[in-house]
Amino acid sequence: MEKNISVAIDGPAAAGKSTVAKKVASILGFTYIDTGAMYRAFTYAVIKAGLDPQSEAQSNSLIPSVSIELAEGGKVFCNGEDVTRAIREPLVSGNVSYIASYKEIRLAMVDMQRKMAESKSVVMDGRDIGTYVLPKASVKIFQIASVETRAERRFKENQEKGIPTTYEEVVADVKKRDYIDSHRAFAPLSQAEDAVALDTSNLTIEESVEAVLKIIADKTGLEVPCH
Ligand code: CDP
Repeated sequence: MEKNISVAIDGPAAAGKSTVAKKVASILGFTYIDTGAMYRAFTYAVIKAGLDPQSEAQSNSLIPSVSIELAEGGKVFCNGEDVTRAIREPLVSGNVSYIASYKEIRLAMVDMQRKMAESKSVVMDGRDIGTYVLPKASVKIFQIASVETRAERRFKENQEKGIPTTYEEVVADVKKRDYIDSHRAFAPLSQAEDAVALDTSNLTIEESVEAVLKIIADKTGLEVPCH
């Protein structure tokens, strides 16, 4: 049987990782795993329980009782509740990087992420996939774009989804998360030594998808289906 292939896509906030990862996974018939959605769902649970996401002890206390499911079609469930939309709201975005900096919560999420990648080919996106979650991933990509490009993309995406934010708020959120994500003690955002850097500042979605498919084909010899 052909060996499973795992593709790790890491990078800073709103670099377009999930859009590209989703399309690449669909073209290759791989499973897409959005690890950020898991940290977002945990953040939602902490806020919903009336706890303080800036308190590590309070947030950790929910580890045994939070169940997160990434369902087919991109839906996200937290303790059985459909939180797909709620986890994109500014309150969650503004607090998720605190939650993601707590080691015990990360270990619980990483455990789930590794299990999901065990028996199938996956495209997994996040911050620490190539460096920590799947250090032996067949392909590692570090997807970047300028802060302005990233903020513009996220602002447009929020508008399309009806999520109320101003452009200035999006810039501030992206910068704040980048700072916390790259300065935390445990598994911070960083480029793996064997990752290929891909700057998508001047690429369309389609061009980014093609660039990622080419990197995967070069690294693994996989034939990319017509698409
Ligand atoms: O899509 P966007 O770039 O806004 O972020 P995301 O992938 O949904 O991730 C939300 C947050 O979760 C990030 O800002 C990180 O704080 C955290 N995260 C992480 O620490 N490790 C991961 N593997 C994925 C996300």
